[in-house]
Amino acid sequence: MAFLKDIEKYKNQKVTLKGWVFNIRSSGSICFLQFRDGTGYIQIVVSRQDVGENIFNKVKKITLETSIKAQGKVYPEKKSPYGWEMFAENIEIIQLAENYPLGKKQHGPDFLLKNRHLWIRSPRQAAILKIRDRIVQSIRRFLAEQGFVLTDAPIITPTACEGTTTLFKIDYFGKPAYLSQSGQLYLEALIYSLGKVYDFGPVFRAEKSKTRRHLTEFWMMDAEAAFVQHEENMKIQEDLVYFLVQETLKHCSKELKILNRDTKILKNIKPPFPRITYNQAIEILQKKGVKIKWGEDFGADEEAILSQESSQPLFIEKYPATIKAFYMQPDPNNKKLVLNDDLLAPEGYGEIIGGSERIWDYNLLKKKIKEFNIPEKSLSWYLELRLYGSVPHSGFGLGLERFITWITGIHHIRESIPFPRTLTRFQP
Ligand code: 4AD
Ligand code: MG
Repeated sequence: MAFLKDIEKYKNQKVTLKGWVFNIRSSGSICFLQFRDGTGYIQIVVSRQDVGENIFNKVKKITLETSIKAQGKVYPEKKSPYGWEMFAENIEIIQLAENYPLGKKQHGPDFLLKNRHLWIRSPRQAAILKIRDRIVQSIRRFLAEQGFVLTDAPIITPTACEGTTTLFKIDYFGKPAYLSQSGQLYLEALIYSLGKVYDFGPVFRAEKSKTRRHLTEFWMMDAEAAFVQHEENMKIQEDLVYFLVQETLKHCSKELKILNRDTKILKNIKPPFPRITYNQAIEILQKKGVKIKWGEDFGADEEAILSQESSQPLFIEKYPATIKAFYMQPDPNNKKLVLNDDLLAPEGYGEIIGGSERIWDYNLLKKKIKEFNIPEKSLSWYLELRLYGSVPHSGFGLGLERFITWITGIHHIRESIPFPRTLTRFQP
């Protein structure tokens, strides 16, 4: 059996393919089957004269999504939608599909999401998922090459990492527990053992807002490194983003084409990325007539305005401490600010990475935990890390689906994950 990803190898040879028919056109004594095998696409030409009456009559009964085994010669054909054709010598039906609900006509998002288990078969969805795979591989490669060790954080946790408003509570044998919002706090413990670490897994946020950018379950890559401070932390982020863009362009040109992604901007991405401070961002927004005051956080709209005109990812650094998490290191030049950064994707896609230097002084962290009204007991282990060889350290978290949404240029984050969970949906 051959796979379409290797088709060049089989040029003008007879091969056997197994897969699915996703479109059918017939005219008299010729049938054109659009066929996929999960690794690629091809048009299969079936002629009555060549396969004989018996097989041809069976082929005529083939319905959308019928699984088949096809044998014949494969050859490049400019006129074929996929550049290659097979001239069939034999077709066997593996399972004749029932009437497929996702026909050729346009469907609304609700119908498609209800049928997500089928919708993922479409070339567009498959292209997004292939790019997802490439980005995940590339994140792992980049970090491994930089000396980061993969080490996973738990999903069931006793405390919040990113504020209590978006916690999913679960019943842990009669005790309250929460689904993890980010593995960061655990990674901070692991740097003392492994130096540079990262995790990569699902995280959960009970986001009550219905937007194009929020999922309630998404994949996050948290990275954390001992002795790294704010500047170097941002450098790692921009090098990572640059690498991911290059790898996607290099390996996923077919997929980007299926998605009609304009790759001009992607091709021009190059560090160092521009940066502005929170204070400057407020000024820019106010000049544009946005009603926002110093000390308020940016929502999706403000982020979109800030990143719309940028052709590069844009760092916004040094936010007010009051709107960021308790663990962020104060800016030595202005104690009201913290040494953090949000990295916004260009073209209005908004935040893809959030990072910061962490407080490493025991007393300061203790004070902050109190100021943020977090019960100290719940974080005693985390605080204790600052007692045994504490060091300056920093880290960041990349939201995988946010990143994919930008790279693929899709409108809504729900298409960036195989089975999206949002405020109103957790099926199928
Ligand atoms: O900015 P966030 O909240 O940062 C943290 O969780 C830190 N603990 C990470 C760290 O420093 N290790 O989340 C990180 C990223 C965001 O930049 C965004 O890309 C993504 O996670 N994100 C979401 N993606 C999809 N749906 C949501 N509801 C998201 N919330 C955050
Ligand atoms: Mg953030």
